[in-house]
Amino acid sequence: MRIVKTIKEMREVSRWYRGEGKVMGLVPTMGALHDGHLSLVRRAKEQNDRTIVSIFVNPEQFGPSEDFNTYPRDTDADLEKLSGLQADVVFMPEAREVYPEGFSTLIEMGGIGQVLCGASRPGHFNGVATVVAKLFNIVIPRRSYFGQKDFQQTVIIQKFVRDLNFDTEVIVCPIVREPDGLAMSSRNAYLNEEERKAAVILHKALQLGEELIHSRRIDDASKVKKEMIALIKKEPLAKLDYIDIVDPHNLDPVKRVIFAAAICLAVNIGKTRLIDNIIVERR
Ligand code: PAJ
Repeated sequence: MRIVKTIKEMREVSRWYRGEGKVMGLVPTMGALHDGHLSLVRRAKEQNDRTIVSIFVNPEQFGPSEDFNTYPRDTDADLEKLSGLQADVVFMPEAREVYPEGFSTLIEMGGIGQVLCGASRPGHFNGVATVVAKLFNIVIPRRSYFGQKDFQQTVIIQKFVRDLNFDTEVIVCPIVREPDGLAMSSRNAYLNEEERKAAVILHKALQLGEELIHSRRIDDASKVKKEMIALIKKEPLAKLDYIDIVDPHNLDPVKRVIFAAAICLAVNIGKTRLIDNIIVERR
């Protein structure tokens, strides 16, 4: 497994692979890798000749009062996991390599970056789009892999790929969960024992939403939201940030669930902000 730290070397390696006719898959991550990340790497390995995993905690997507400095970092463990899966290249540049002095160009996502998580994290998705676009330009992957865990992020990436004509196929992989239903996340490491138990409420609320729509045939989004909010309120350690039921293609709120909808939520468990979602299809 080759470890690459500079953009110049990453471009050379990628050009070499392309010259050999090898198809590349890219898995962008911020490290602190868990089975959710590794599921993307496995999928990339299956579908491509070469798998490139990037590890970069992107300062542009953290707000000034967010957890950039304390975000979990464990490079040794990450490299061990990736070499176990036989990733071909790990691209792990320093911040000043990605954002040298004078850097000032950002992708502005507009309204789609300002709803859901974007409402409480202004600028976050512009930072995500910018770094992912840079990775696409550096690696030029045929396919790129993202988790449904960050559902809004997948919609945003698919949108700028379309809007700006990036030539990569965006592949969205299912959410990997702990046995009790909690979606795996690097931020779960912040939770103490009590909070970890309380965190299952996100998935419980989503299951309730799905059941109301599927089994009880309720199509009124505000009714579904109300019952989900009531359930979350029963958990004393949970503080709801948002629940929204949206069109999975453009994130517009839906009043009635007629075909498909994404139920997205963010909940603070103690000081840790967790997100989760589920896509429901009317049957
Ligand atoms: P990070 O949070 O490290 O996640 C990297 C990728 O792993 C994302 O596509 C995310 O959706 C996916 N992922 C995380 N938890 C998952 C789970 N439980 N199941 C399935 N996939 C999961 O998302 C980012 O980093 C950054 O915003 C990034 C795209 C790298 C840009 O900086």
